[in-house]
Amino acid sequence: MNEFSRWLAATEVSHVIQTTTWIIPTLQTIHILSVAAVFSAAILVDLRIWRLLDRDAPLPELARRFLPTIWPVLLILLVTGSLLIVGEPRRSLLNSTFYLKMALLVVAIALTAGLQRTISSSPNFWDRDLARRVAGRFAATVSILVWCGILFAGRWIAYTQAG
Ligand code: HEM
Repeated sequence: MNEFSRWLAATEVSHVIQTTTWIIPTLQTIHILSVAAVFSAAILVDLRIWRLLDRDAPLPELARRFLPTIWPVLLILLVTGSLLIVGEPRRSLLNSTFYLKMALLVVAIALTAGLQRTISSSPNFWDRDLARRVAGRFAATVSILVWCGILFAGRWIAYTQAG
């Protein structure tokens, strides 16, 4: 990964990102606005599963409204995040916090996709009996913790980078 980071940092596109002052702040701004969109959509649905929010709105309606927005915005996060890596490869690619963030992201994607699929195939899936309600709240809690972990790890990359 050391060799690859060195090679990536020497490419023309990395050089342009490194030397054009507005590119990194712009990518970071788009990244953080997208983080806000994805995080709010996921958390709104998780809090509704806990019945802490919008109790009168049916869960399937809320899930249909918010969860589909996550996927295109994740693509924006992937593109901006990848360009940030191209600009400063060593910051992330030699940093275990970055890999923690990616591992948590895989869990968050699996949970969100599972939630979306179960609700769209059977609107009362998480409300059918006590066991389902407990399982739904457990999944919502893990989802909240994992999304918060991704935010924390994203910010933490700056403080754990290789020398
Ligand atoms: C989809 C793939 C993603 C990639 C490749 C990626 C990559 C990156 C990179 C390279 C940075 C800059 C770290 C630094 O140099 O300090 C960053 C920052 C950050 N990322 Fe991501 N990221 C992705 C998705 C996400 C997601 C889904 C979230 C949260 C929902 C997230 C939250 C953050 C946060 C909070 C920061 C710190 C921003 C700042 O302090 O300016 N990222 N990300």
